[in-house]
Amino acid sequence: MQIITDVKEMREIVEGIKQSGQSIGFVPTMGYLHFGHLALITAARKQNNMVAASIFVNPAQFGPEEDFERYPRDVEADSIKAKSAGVDLLFCPKIEDIYGAGYATYVETEGLSEQLCGKSRPGHFRGVCTVVLKLFNIVQPKRAYFGQKDAQQFIILKRMTLDLNLDIEMICLPIVREADGLAMSSRNIYLTEQERRKATVLNCSLNEAKQLYDAGERNAQALLEVVEKKLLKVKEGRLDYAELVDLTHLLPITKIDKPALLALAMYFGQTRLIDNVILQ
Ligand code: PAF
Repeated sequence: MQIITDVKEMREIVEGIKQSGQSIGFVPTMGYLHFGHLALITAARKQNNMVAASIFVNPAQFGPEEDFERYPRDVEADSIKAKSAGVDLLFCPKIEDIYGAGYATYVETEGLSEQLCGKSRPGHFRGVCTVVLKLFNIVQPKRAYFGQKDAQQFIILKRMTLDLNLDIEMICLPIVREADGLAMSSRNIYLTEQERRKATVLNCSLNEAKQLYDAGERNAQALLEVVEKKLLKVKEGRLDYAELVDLTHLLPITKIDKPALLALAMYFGQTRLIDNVILQ
């Protein structure tokens, strides 16, 4: 595995790979890799000649009061994990090479970016779209891999690739969970022992809603009531949102008559966790 920090060098390597007719599968990350990331790398390994992953904690997607400074970083451990999962090229650009002096260009996916997480994280998806487009331009993948835990992110990025005519196959893989059901996230490290225990309520409430849905319940309000009742009982947590939305516009629905996204965000202490299930 090669570790590349220089944009120009990465471009040259990519150019060589493309000229030899090989495909690149790409897994963009912010590092602190867990099994969720490794599942994406494993899938990319199976479907492409070469696998590239990036580690870049993107300042543009963090709000001024958010955790950019303390976001967990461990490039050494990440390189070992990436290598054993099958990454060929680990791209770790420097902030000043991605956002140079005078940087002024941003990508906005209107509408979708203002729903769900966009309400409490204004500007977040603008930062995500901007950096992912820049990484796509540098890495030039045939396929790109994302986790369903960030379902809104995936839907927005897929919209971006369609709208901007990018010839990249966007692949979304299922949420990888800890043994007790908590969705894997680099931010789980922030949780105290007690918060960590309480955070399993996210998955439990989604499971309860899913069971009701499987038993025939199609009324969004009825499903949300079950979820909210469970979440609001946890006094260590603060619910940000629980919403049932359609998968195209991410707008609230009242009745489920096609696949829908039940998405949650909740704070445990200072830590904001998200989780979701697709009801179909
Ligand atoms: O999901 C993430 O880790 C980030 O939002 C991404 C896609 C790497 C962009 O910074």
